Amino acid sequence: MLEGKRVLLVIGGGIAAYKCLELIRLIKKQGGAVRVILTKAGSEFVTPLSLASLSGDKVYEDLFSLTDETAMGHIELSRSADLVVVAPATADLMAKAANGLANDLASTTLLATDKAVLMVPAMNVRMWQHPATQRNHRRLLEDGVCFVGPDDGAMACGEFGPGRMAEPAAVLAAIVHHFLPADRPLAGQHVLITSGPTHEPLDPVRYIANRSSGKQGHAIARAAAVAGARVTLISGPVTVPDPQGVEVVHVETARQMLDAVEQALPADVAIFCAAVADWRVVNAGQEKIKKTVDGVPPLALVENPDILATVSQKKNGRPGLVIGFAAETETVIEHAKAKLARKGCDWIIANDVSPATGIMGGDFNSVHLVRASGTGSSPGVSEIESWPRMDKDAVARALVAEIVKTLDREGWV
Ligand code: C5P
Repeated sequence: MLEGKRVLLVIGGGIAAYKCLELIRLIKKQGGAVRVILTKAGSEFVTPLSLASLSGDKVYEDLFSLTDETAMGHIELSRSADLVVVAPATADLMAKAANGLANDLASTTLLATDKAVLMVPAMNVRMWQHPATQRNHRRLLEDGVCFVGPDDGAMACGEFGPGRMAEPAAVLAAIVHHFLPADRPLAGQHVLITSGPTHEPLDPVRYIANRSSGKQGHAIARAAAVAGARVTLISGPVTVPDPQGVEVVHVETARQMLDAVEQALPADVAIFCAAVADWRVVNAGQEKIKKTVDGVPPLALVENPDILATVSQKKNGRPGLVIGFAAETETVIEHAKAKLARKGCDWIIANDVSPATGIMGGDFNSVHLVRASGTGSSPGVSEIESWPRMDKDAVARALVAEIVKTLDREGWV
């Protein structure tokens, strides 16, 4: 995915700098080249030797090094890359970049570059939340700098909250995604996505629902649109906004969702992210059910159509790649494999939604990609890939990248 792309990685001084070793490995595995600028503070956390070994290139540290400036001056360094990634982007590096300060190789390069900059902040939660850092963040966004993270969670300093550096896989997904729009690798493809919950009425006032927020499905729709696809998003009732550049069909019930999916077909790729209610009430009344002294009203349930299975098992007009989701609270992968076989789809994205994970309705997701036999790089063997915890946008970008790779391999694009 990164063949021929050159990343200039500016490593700041934070404990999270160790994650850059893995990041370099991931970028190189995707075919990209990495050149490293290491700040003085950064060199307290990772050594030039490790970075040079992994990147296969010299590590640049000093603005006033006669040999470096002759071989590759800071201006040339800043221009020779296709993308500049700052990780960890410390409060200090962000402050310098936001204010145009240039007093070392890293900050001078950031001021001199004419290339896109992606920052991956990492710092103590109070430092991140400080008005000065927040002001710098806003200013950098205005200047066109892109950001991944920071993540929420336990920090090396023992505190808890936003400030953790995004995981290397999430940074890689953002890098891969950065290079997608120019190529628009999904141009000409129609991608159909379901998202959110469904509401199944009991009467005109009450309904059966679930906790799905639509964040993951909407993020996938956004990422697919950025990659150039024509996207139809069929959304149950959610509070997240409609993504830009996407045709959105709003529905309430499972049956309406199935109708909208049938209407939207044919599609090249279909991704069923919605948490469709399994059951609905038989003969939901037109009038509000009244409380009576006789006790609770009997509510008979009937099964809803399974949209994923219906589309996966189509004889005619089945999308070339059908992807389902499996939200489980136990033995996630086993259930996902069984679901893959039962529904007849090509991939299942499985995740653990037990309450402790905070995934349902939250901003993060940690998923396993389970591919059916006969697809992927090892036909006949069902492949399982476990992705690290990432925010839902990063999962969406990684999934879109995976789709592009598969379509590419199978000669669709
Ligand atoms: O069977 P289960 O609900 O766990 O399956 C989850 C997958 O099936 C998700 O991809 C979901 O969008 C899809 N599904 C569906 N229609 C249903 C139930 C689930 O499309 N009625």
